[in-house]
Amino acid sequence: STVSNFDFAPNLFPLSSSAAPGYTPIGAPTTAAHQNGGMGGASLEKHKTLTYMNGLGLIIGLIIGSGIFSSPSQVNSNVGSPGASLIVWVIAGVLAWTGAASYAELGGAIPLNGGPQAYLSKILGEMAGFLFTWVAVLVLKPGSAAIIAIIMGEYLVRAFIGVEAETINPWVGKSVALVGLVLLTFMNALSTRLGTRTNDMLMFLKFIALIGVTIVGVIVAITGLSYSGPANVEWKTHGWFEGTSKDGAEWAVAIYAGLWAFDGWDNTNYVVGEFRNPGRDLPRVIHTAMPLVIICYVLANMAYFFVLPAATINSTNTVAVNFGQTVFGPIGALIFALIVSASCFGALNSQTFTSSRLVYAAGKEGYLPTVFARIGLRSTEPGLSSTRTRSWLSKRLHTMLGDEEAGLFFTPVNALLLNAFLTIMYIVVGEFGELLTFYGVAGYTFYFLTVLGLIILRVKEPNLERPYKTWITTPIIFCCVSLFLLSRAVFAQPLKTLVVVAFVLVGIPVYFWRIHGRDQVTKREVGGGEAAPSWKFWKRWTN
Ligand code: ARG
Repeated sequence: STVSNFDFAPNLFPLSSSAAPGYTPIGAPTTAAHQNGGMGGASLEKHKTLTYMNGLGLIIGLIIGSGIFSSPSQVNSNVGSPGASLIVWVIAGVLAWTGAASYAELGGAIPLNGGPQAYLSKILGEMAGFLFTWVAVLVLKPGSAAIIAIIMGEYLVRAFIGVEAETINPWVGKSVALVGLVLLTFMNALSTRLGTRTNDMLMFLKFIALIGVTIVGVIVAITGLSYSGPANVEWKTHGWFEGTSKDGAEWAVAIYAGLWAFDGWDNTNYVVGEFRNPGRDLPRVIHTAMPLVIICYVLANMAYFFVLPAATINSTNTVAVNFGQTVFGPIGALIFALIVSASCFGALNSQTFTSSRLVYAAGKEGYLPTVFARIGLRSTEPGLSSTRTRSWLSKRLHTMLGDEEAGLFFTPVNALLLNAFLTIMYIVVGEFGELLTFYGVAGYTFYFLTVLGLIILRVKEPNLERPYKTWITTPIIFCCVSLFLLSRAVFAQPLKTLVVVAFVLVGIPVYFWRIHGRDQVTKREVGGGEAAPSWKFWKRWTN
């Protein structure tokens, strides 16, 4: 049956597992390769901890980051009217939703950690999966984490130095970003539970913030009261569609800005292997998260329009802070600056959690050195520490963090470290705008390919067990729109696109080097035979 297929993590050596001489508490096969920290010595997927709530926390936690508090200016200034802006927010949200629904089908059918890495490998060939991993591990994940961290630092600094202060040395913000990142990396290394619980909590904070913005906006609209004298009445006196742009290019730019705010909808797919019940929960997570986020974003934008004149919205990158300032004065600005930085902190936490699983999956497949697939601090099996005698403090900690069975540091520590290291590099040397363009083009190329893969898989393997099946129109819409957006970017910025292409191409020789190395090791360890990464094994197992 399908369920039992995934009670165990698919590992590289399915046959050796039954013949394994030593039995370890986690149930992992013990070949030398495994002991060396590789495929499945200790495996995250065998210790499934994630629930529906955690999934929601991970996806909403990353989606609601900085965007809704800062991109409205880019949306509004491009399409020219509040009504058109709201339409753009809905379009961007629905587009993200079609992407997420497609990923839900893939995640249910191929429930492995690493997300697109596994889907692309299976559908388009291992090189596609490798190239995705290459770009995602080296650029997309740490790059976007750096962006969020920098925004977090800037807002926090503004909260304390003063919202109006113009000249703040960027290094002050960057230092705060680095401290936040190190803290989150440590928390996620300490315990899976700690990471996910923080997420769950921050998710509620974000909702409360957005609902709060909405309520305040409505109250201001009704009473006409605000800190800075009589409230904005533009929304009453001007038509909501007055001044709407008729230029397609401007709409495209606006949609891009909206898409950043909705980005992160693929986040749960990286950790599907750790879900207790992925086939049921992944689609549920996505179909709860996406409509909720879309509604919250549209409401928050309406509230901005109630409180602030369009000219103000268009000219600020910190619309939420202006909102707080206008309604409540300096205290309001301070509170909103704090909320936005907390929201970014949460997004960074979600991202840290899932990126480390992508790196971990890459280590398992042999795309990266296997040390990155190691679980825990020690090179040997960390074991289930609950049977060990523990100090009082350590017992308290275990109870508190809820990782009773697996113990502290039952996390992909090395993967977390690599991810943190790369993110630090981007924070230190990264140029914001460059990062964002690269992210958009490279990110959407792989979204497009992955969703296209869904369609291909439907044709190639119509009888594959799919716990969740989306309407076929969903991936088609996503593919068409993302292809359109991509082509616009290519024509608008041919040079930057070339950089992306070049970077992907450099991955090809690396692929042959890594895969050759992996296959050599496999031959030595198990005496010949073809190396089987988990997606291949998965196929053999299900057929
Ligand atoms: N939606 C997030 C925000 O508004 C950005 C997510 C970035 N994407 C990612 N995969 N890290 O800040």
